[in-house]
Amino acid sequence: MSRPVLALVASAAGGVERWLVDELARPLADRGWRLAITLTPTAARWLEPRLPDLAATTDLPVRWTSRLPTEPKPHPVPDAFAFAPATSNSLAKLALGLGDNQAITALCEGLGRRAPLVVMPRVSADQSAHPAFGGHLDVLISAGVVLATDPGAVVRELDRVVPFGLFRKNGDNTP
Ligand SMILES: Cc1cc2nc3c(=O)[nH]c(=O)nc-3n(C[C@H](O)[C@H](O)[C@H](O)COP(=O)(O)O)c2cc1C
Repeated sequence: MSRPVLALVASAAGGVERWLVDELARPLADRGWRLAITLTPTAARWLEPRLPDLAATTDLPVRWTSRLPTEPKPHPVPDAFAFAPATSNSLAKLALGLGDNQAITALCEGLGRRAPLVVMPRVSADQSAHPAFGGHLDVLISAGVVLATDPGAVVRELDRVVPFGLFRKNGDNTP
């Protein structure tokens, strides 16, 4: 059986540049996931000094831009998704289906086909008090999204919602 593919999507919440590699990407790779990592444009700027370390956790390219129509898809179709951290901005866009960058586009497609998706929101009190925030969370939860509070919980929830033993052969997952 080929390794299951996890789309790991990160947006620009404070601290992501400090913990994404060591607390999430590496533990997930160690757990056996083949990581298809996509960053929002802002997260890519913040994580620039750590990009070599992030790239070392996967054989697939780390993405933050869209491909040209003439280029092949750099990532295979993921078996599951982790969106961590999720800013209030990107979480709202996911709930509304606004795929205006590659990271949210990937998530919107995954949500559309109801692939397993664990989301770790990281928002301030003011951001969560925005009148639309609760509605966005409700949309995601009603679509089956699982919420996690910290990177360790993301790893645990993925184990729970997509037990490795249930993985089908990832046959048409190219490249
Ligand atoms: C230092 C810093 C920390 C931030 N922390 C957060 C945060 O924890 N949560 C959040 O929703 N936005 C936070 N923001 C604001 C987002 O970075 C901003 O809304 C950005 O447009 C989000 O882009 P993205 O969702 O495309 O990654 C922070 C901004 C800065 C400069």
